[in-house]
Amino acid sequence: MDLLLNPNTNATPETESGTKPAFNTEFADDVKAGFAGSPKTLSSKYFYDGAGSKLFQQIMELPEYYPTRTEFSILKKQKAEIINFFNPSDFFHLVELGSGDGLKTKILLRQLLQAKARFEYIPVDISGDAINQLQSALSSELPDLKTVGFTGDYFKALHWLKRNKPGRKVVLFLGSNIGNFEDNGDLKFLQEIRKYLSPQDKILVGFDLQKDPRVIRQAYDDASGVTAAFNLNLLKRMNRELGANFEPEQFEHFTDYDPIAGVVKSYLVSKRNQTVTFSYLNHTVSFKAWEPIHTENSHKYSVDMIKELGRKSGFETEQLFTDEQHYFADVLFRVV
Ligand code: TRP
Repeated sequence: MDLLLNPNTNATPETESGTKPAFNTEFADDVKAGFAGSPKTLSSKYFYDGAGSKLFQQIMELPEYYPTRTEFSILKKQKAEIINFFNPSDFFHLVELGSGDGLKTKILLRQLLQAKARFEYIPVDISGDAINQLQSALSSELPDLKTVGFTGDYFKALHWLKRNKPGRKVVLFLGSNIGNFEDNGDLKFLQEIRKYLSPQDKILVGFDLQKDPRVIRQAYDDASGVTAAFNLNLLKRMNRELGANFEPEQFEHFTDYDPIAGVVKSYLVSKRNQTVTFSYLNHTVSFKAWEPIHTENSHKYSVDMIKELGRKSGFETEQLFTDEQHYFADVLFRVV
């Protein structure tokens, strides 16, 4: 399943000629397959190379991009209440899927330590670098915390946990990553997680809520053009890693929010007829004038949709933590 939202770091260096940059076969195959289809697509997991990750950091600072700071404020204000729902005096494994730099999670970790909770923290990330950095940061910042990092895919981690870490689990899936799957991918993802959990286990999931469509639209099309640069970086990445000759000025960043479907769709639109050559792949792709490449879906949820999603995947909504404007929600589901 295409569920990882983090950078793929499995680049295989080109050893023979030594002239080509690091080459990632999976990226090459995904690009070829995505451009062979109609409409053309590119998987959003490729946004986050070095340049893309820096641009995403800038997106999170933008005045228009509300999700990150809103979730941060929810966790900060309601941390005491949130951790109480984890039943902190009864030992548990706190498993975080996609821990990244752990900035938001540290709010909960500090609170748990302060409350003398009995737990062990298991961050899971596809990036080994991210896990190592997080573990070393935590061992100096929170020396009393017991951390066991896991590098790899979410489901490998859950499988490993089921065998090696029996006992109660509280899973964290923060951010709004649940909204970035294709059709019904959110449901399939939660159903799959549910298979690895037992009664008593819980999961806290971040959801971006439906709101004034203009607010949502602006979050994905900021005035300073950072989001455009982030989307267009996909083209530059193909130039760097696959020897493509995209001219980014010949494509346009376009996003729009559909309030009926509750989804922001992001595209790169070809401004003219053009053919791009991938010199490392012996491959060419042609684009018609105004032909879109679909790059990401960002689903926005109503409270009813969230409860329904939980129900269909074997969870009951135990508590919904939101902000004053009801822009974002961290939702605690318990296994039923
Ligand atoms: N996953 C993020 C989100 O859905 C990524 C993102 C922010 C994004 N802005 C974007 C993806 C613009 C494509 C285009 O919020």
